[in-house]
Amino acid sequence: MRPRVVINVAMSLDGKLSTRERKQVKISGKEDFERVDKLKAKSDAIMVGIGTVLADDPSLTIKSDELKHKRLEKGLEENPVRVVVDSAARIPLTSSLLYKGKGRRVIAVSRRADPQKVIELKKIVTVIEGGETEVDLARLLDELGAMGVHQLMVEGGGTLISGLFAARLVDEIYTFIGNLIIGGKDAPTLADGEGFVRENDFSRLTLLEATQLGKGILLHWKVSPQ
Ligand SMILES: NC(=O)c1ccc[n+]([C@@H]2O[C@H](COP(=O)([O-])OP(=O)(O)OC[C@H]3O[C@@H](n4cnc5c(N)ncnc54)[C@H](OP(=O)(O)O)[C@@H]3O)[C@@H](O)[C@H]2O)c1
Repeated sequence: MRPRVVINVAMSLDGKLSTRERKQVKISGKEDFERVDKLKAKSDAIMVGIGTVLADDPSLTIKSDELKHKRLEKGLEENPVRVVVDSAARIPLTSSLLYKGKGRRVIAVSRRADPQKVIELKKIVTVIEGGETEVDLARLLDELGAMGVHQLMVEGGGTLISGLFAARLVDEIYTFIGNLIIGGKDAPTLADGEGFVRENDFSRLTLLEATQLGKGILLHWKVSPQ
């Protein structure tokens, strides 16, 4: 069965995920950081696009020792499965998420990926192949479901999130809105990509909760069925 897809992003009041140079920005504070760590610990897998790996080099591990212990007590791996959507297998072999922290890693590639790089990757991670020029996200989710992933948390960035919306694969969204303006028409936003033109293609949301958190606000949304 296809996993439940939960997006989590932190954005500035003007809806930017980072600067126009794609430099990571501290948008939230301690309270939100702890919430995100708990959401990670409750998820079976965490997914990012290759753009985020190249820009931020995240490890995508759970930071709290207590949360890691709780997962181990439940018979789970210390960290959720870490998944990178990377059509052309551009991920550097030195990326933090490939060697930091215990747990399984999945790199999803398309037929465009260099076969030699795929062979290298297969020595250290699970490689899922699908899609001609870009990763077939619906198929990837089916394969993750078959691996036992029930809840998939998506950390961004905006291009991957837009692809997930286009394929109608998103169930829930958490947006933390921080107390800053980043600006810039080219700075990444929650859903980049081509953008939707016809009203029927817009995703409609239901607000489940709005909570003041630290110096910002956390919005929890459900994606309405189409
Ligand atoms: N504030 C936050 O919460 C937050 C969270 C995460 C990231 N960010 C920021 O977001 C920025 C990175 O975002 P980004 O938009 O450049 O990159 P991204 O969304 O992380 O990755 C996008 C890439 O994924 C690959 N991809 C493969 N198949 C795809 C498909 N079916 N649909 C969509 N993408 C597919 C494409 O590259 P290939 O064609 O090469 O495969 C695409 O360019 C960074 O600046 C980072 O700091 C912020």
